[in-house]
Amino acid sequence: MMIETIRSYVEEQCNKKENGFSKYFYEEHLAQVKKYATELCQILHGDIEIVELASYLHDISAVIDYKTLSTHNIDSAKYAEEILIDKGFDSAKIEKVKSCILNHTVPLQINTASIEEICVSNADAISQIVNPSYWLFFAFNVRSLNYLDAKNWYLNRIETNWIALIEPAKQMIENKYRIVKEAI
Ligand SMILES: [Fe+2]
Repeated sequence: MMIETIRSYVEEQCNKKENGFSKYFYEEHLAQVKKYATELCQILHGDIEIVELASYLHDISAVIDYKTLSTHNIDSAKYAEEILIDKGFDSAKIEKVKSCILNHTVPLQINTASIEEICVSNADAISQIVNPSYWLFFAFNVRSLNYLDAKNWYLNRIETNWIALIEPAKQMIENKYRIVKEAI
């Protein structure tokens, strides 16, 4: 299956020691984005294949080279294009995946973007809210923040993300959001 080829390529890149997000990134972030993005996609009736491919590839430039983090949406779209051409995907699909990656950095609202872009961008924000252990690890170990700065950074992330989520995304994780917010 074509998606499996991409998934295993991304997982392999994540497991390399050069991955600045750590080897946990695949399981704790990319697989979570895929899970929530495809759930949302079923609710919103989008194209699951596009959403899965974009979920796996949306941060790929920063996995390969952490220094690209500030422009990783643009750089990851370029990487994705190269990888997907190489694996024989058709150009219409590649364009749709690229748009999801380019526009994933804030949760997009209904009717302002394609369904697939909405799913991936909202799932990216969800993944931070529902996984405090990885994102606090990221704040401490990857960003080298001290205890209070890490805690405030994370609290700020979950608040900003929660406010921006579309309604069906909020409904999906409301319980987890309340629990995490209270526990941090
Ligand atoms: Fe991400």
